[in-house]
Amino acid sequence: DVSASGASGSRDIVLTLNETGKKAIVLFGSQTGTAEDYAHKFAKEFQSRFGIPTMCGDLADYDYDNFEKIPTQVPNFQMVIFLAATYGEGDPTDNAIDFFEYLENDCEDLSGLKFACFGLGNSTYEFYNASGKKVVKVLQEKNAELIGELGLGDDGKATTDEDYLSWKDSLFEVIKDSLSLQERDLEYEAGIEVIEDHTLTEDSPSVSLGEPDASYVNPVTPEDKTYLERGPFDNTHPFLAPVVSIRDMCPVRHCIHAELDISGSNLRYLTGDHLAIWPSNPDSKVNKMISALDLDSKKDTIIKIHSLDPTVRSLIPTPTTYATVIRYYLEISGPVSRQFIKSVAQFCPDDATKGKIDEISGNKELFQKEITDQGLNIADALLLLSHGVKWTTVPFAFIIESIPHVQPRYYSISSSFLSEKETVHITVMVEANKVTGTDRMTTGVASNLLYDIEANSNGTKAIESYNLEGPRGKFRKYRLPVHIRRSTFKLPTNQDTPIIMVGPGTGVAPFRGFVREKVKLAENGKAGKGDVVLFYGCRKSTEDFLYKSEWPEYAKKLGDKFTLITAFSRETDKKVYVQHKMRENSKKIAELLDQGAFFYVCGDASGMARDVQKALIDIMVKEKEILEDDAIEMVKQLKIQNRYQEDVW
Ligand code: 2AM
Repeated sequence: DVSASGASGSRDIVLTLNETGKKAIVLFGSQTGTAEDYAHKFAKEFQSRFGIPTMCGDLADYDYDNFEKIPTQVPNFQMVIFLAATYGEGDPTDNAIDFFEYLENDCEDLSGLKFACFGLGNSTYEFYNASGKKVVKVLQEKNAELIGELGLGDDGKATTDEDYLSWKDSLFEVIKDSLSLQERDLEYEAGIEVIEDHTLTEDSPSVSLGEPDASYVNPVTPEDKTYLERGPFDNTHPFLAPVVSIRDMCPVRHCIHAELDISGSNLRYLTGDHLAIWPSNPDSKVNKMISALDLDSKKDTIIKIHSLDPTVRSLIPTPTTYATVIRYYLEISGPVSRQFIKSVAQFCPDDATKGKIDEISGNKELFQKEITDQGLNIADALLLLSHGVKWTTVPFAFIIESIPHVQPRYYSISSSFLSEKETVHITVMVEANKVTGTDRMTTGVASNLLYDIEANSNGTKAIESYNLEGPRGKFRKYRLPVHIRRSTFKLPTNQDTPIIMVGPGTGVAPFRGFVREKVKLAENGKAGKGDVVLFYGCRKSTEDFLYKSEWPEYAKKLGDKFTLITAFSRETDKKVYVQHKMRENSKKIAELLDQGAFFYVCGDASGMARDVQKALIDIMVKEKEILEDDAIEMVKQLKIQNRYQEDVW
């Protein structure tokens, strides 16, 4: 989005720093919001620890043509801190693409610039933390000075939070020396202000409390008939899509098939893209949070939120209410972070709680054991640590600034734009896991919201219940805020090219889209000659076989070209997985690859995708009678040619 600009409305980074008087900048490249969340917190902490005015910025919001002028043109400038996430196959995040192009092609001498960098990546991927590594490499080549070490967050080991904390703590130690900065006592300095407004009521003309549901940035009331044209709908401005059809495909494990109406939205998707869903929090968690903060009596009081710092953007539409903010904007359902518990300690209701928090937040292992492993969310943890005493003195501004904001959840689209132009389909496994040794469950917010919509339409009961009566539910159908994210997961353009798809579980989602596309092409006489082979795996043919009744229909339309090969892992005493079935069909796979086939994998990144790649390598070794190293090289070449594509998570 080229029109985006940073604080003070300019894309000129030097100008912005000078106009706002900031002496340090934290820049983030974020895909799912984690890097962004860390960046905001880092900026605040840097500012309050050292008294250095610090701003936080989206890498997409600035131009970099005068980046090298920062040390000379911003008086007393201290340093730049990068929070750089890596996405997919070693790619920069969408918002960082221009910055990485600058690094690649236009970066000039950066002498005098000090910087630090934390990368967010996943070690189960081949190009682990490529973005963070690239930032450090290029900046050092251009004579910028790296302060501390490159931090590496590893989502593959689920240690990103702890990796970040240890990087940050050691960086602050180094900064004290290398920047000769004096450390102050850490106290919360409000970047925003929350004011209760008792003159307003829900009926006041300027108040439309439906707003938060309609849009995250540009408030639109649901009653406003023009909202449909108010596109474009994107990651800052979701479209409220009516759920027109929803069903539970596997009552044993709960897997939801949902169809959303996007007609009139101008949203377009390509087969293989992702649908982002903006969830809200379930009643039980909203109520517990309200109670922990002792807001029960005033949860519906109207509040206004103002930014106290021009470089801090508040994305929460205002006026609003405490309950609305908690339900729609704060990520309160997931695990609580040690960082949050550390910082909330300054608002402890009593000394006993303070003592307990100091003990637990300073000890990584203890925190893991008593908080993380227990599946506790923020409200659970607050009340546990205070022995049920309510947290009456935590400023709500602190809550808004310290708790990550709700981020969209992404799902591989399971329809084809060629056959479904008006609707978009998704395939979502309901996330609900019992915490071992307790009667507690951890539940995914978006999948359980879908489950509740499904249960509601059937008059049954879901695991979590949500506010389906609110503004989003005022219409005939419940509306979910959505936007589309482009992906590179695409069918070959030449329909004679064979395709081999491997997608166990909900990994089958994009392949249902691919197959529906092929069926539509066949109906138009344009399906081509290419074979369509799908390896699908689930537990039992009678239990969680997704779209079981649809596949024979597709087979009828596609004829001999289509082959579905199934692997049922819990039907016999031996595990049968998709990769076992691949090995059984090794000759066919090798032949199709010889014909130029595209190979696709979708689903679990850590176990399945790895095992599938290994199986393909073994198949090459066997069928082509080559060495393993050569087979590895072949797979690598397939990836380079875009003939081996992954959509994994
Ligand atoms: P399991 O749960 O019986 O182990 C969809 O989740 C299917 O993928 C299930 O049948 C599941 O089997 C299977 N699965 C689990 N781990 C896998 C792996 N490493 N490779 C392939 N399939 C796997």
